[in-house]
Amino acid sequence: MDQGIRTIGILGAGRVGTAVAREALKAGYEVRIATAKPVEEIELIVEIITPGAVAVAAADAASSDLVVLAVPLHRYSTLDAAALSGRVVVDAMNYWEPTDGAMPEMQAGRGTSEMVQDFLSGSSVVKTLNHIGYHDLESDGRRAGAPDRRALAVAGDDESARAVVLGFVEALGYDAVDAGPLAAGRAFEPGTEIFAGAHDAAGLGEALGRAAAGATAPAAV
Ligand SMILES: NC(=O)c1ccc[n+]([C@@H]2O[C@H](COP(=O)([O-])OP(=O)(O)OC[C@H]3O[C@@H](n4cnc5c(N)ncnc54)[C@H](OP(=O)(O)O)[C@@H]3O)[C@@H](O)[C@H]2O)c1
Repeated sequence: MDQGIRTIGILGAGRVGTAVAREALKAGYEVRIATAKPVEEIELIVEIITPGAVAVAAADAASSDLVVLAVPLHRYSTLDAAALSGRVVVDAMNYWEPTDGAMPEMQAGRGTSEMVQDFLSGSSVVKTLNHIGYHDLESDGRRAGAPDRRALAVAGDDESARAVVLGFVEALGYDAVDAGPLAAGRAFEPGTEIFAGAHDAAGLGEALGRAAAGATAPAAV
């Protein structure tokens, strides 16, 4: 743990939200977890599947030192942008057509986290944790320096927010690789080489480099 981050608020108590909650608890954070439902409706399930985490209302989760978005992407506009204003917000969401359906506001050539950042204009959105399966998140973490430690990419426009999230990802047991601005997160969305595989830090850095070179390469004539 570092950078004064003690409390992690998680919006979404599904597969990803509960996996992140358990890993964050193991790392020593205080974890608050919320859905769109009233607290009373999730208290028991949170106690059973994420023992040690506290079920709270979404507004209380949003007031944590770091907030993780683990809701289906098509629900992003139901998030309380005012409550999340001023917060560092980890976007772990992906567009998944069978669940999300058509989302006309998504723009070709733009990442979904950029769309989320537009909506959460007062927050510092940082993209990561979207390119690891929820099962893997609980099995692939290793202590720092382990030879088989997996790496995860971190992208966000606010450098200090990115630094906070790099520290969080490291605390969860992964080498955190700084990918730069939020737009660089397009390189680890579904359908990309990075999304499809597991990488160590060197391999991930190279894959990010290839993606950046591809993004800036002049169009073939
Ligand atoms: N499955 C994976 O391995 C994986 C890996 C990385 C990233 N992702 C991405 O992570 C996101 C979550 O996936 P998932 O599989 O965990 O989904 P899920 O199992 O369907 O869980 C979604 C959770 O979000 C809650 N929710 C919906 N609207 C909310 C709101 N406004 N505020 C707070 N909570 C809200 C739901 O609760 P209520 O509806 O009851 O409120 C539910 O607890 C998706 O975008 C997915 O693409 C998935």
